[in-house]
Amino acid sequence: MSTDAIVLLKEDHKEIRRLFRAFEAADEDAKATKHNLVDKIVEALTVHTYIENEVMYPMVRELVPELERNILESFEEHHVADVLCAELDTMGPDDERFDAKTTVLIEAVSRHIEEEEHDWFPQVRETLGRKELQGIGARMIEVRATAPRRPKQPSALRKAADAIFG
Ligand SMILES: [Fe+2]
Ligand SMILES: [Fe+2]
Repeated sequence: MSTDAIVLLKEDHKEIRRLFRAFEAADEDAKATKHNLVDKIVEALTVHTYIENEVMYPMVRELVPELERNILESFEEHHVADVLCAELDTMGPDDERFDAKTTVLIEAVSRHIEEEEHDWFPQVRETLGRKELQGIGARMIEVRATAPRRPKQPSALRKAADAIFG
């Protein structure tokens, strides 16, 4: 099994996109189905942004300094996704904001994933060797094992975001 960091992250993206499509395809009034899908989306995104924040982004920041601006923007995009996930995590499908908030999350994260895959992952692959990407991927697998599954609540998010840049 490949531990190439970019391969692993793209596998996550594929699963996240599958969940997004399922939500978009769900019937308007299929509340239990949509609640269940949002639950899975929140968990998948919480784990994924965590391993990128903890492993991939700091490594890229250090090893590919010309991508600094992309990394800083990506951290902020994760922060926005984290806030929306934290809010959705305490919200039920009967809330009139539930579908709207999920749709905004899907739009924001879809664009973010596009940018990762097309704007800067290729440059990471070009700059780092296969061995280096496998090392980063192996570390991501380790960190994933103990990654949080549910989002931090908003008051704790700011602290977590600040800690990254401590
Ligand atoms: Fe990301
Ligand atoms: Fe990603």
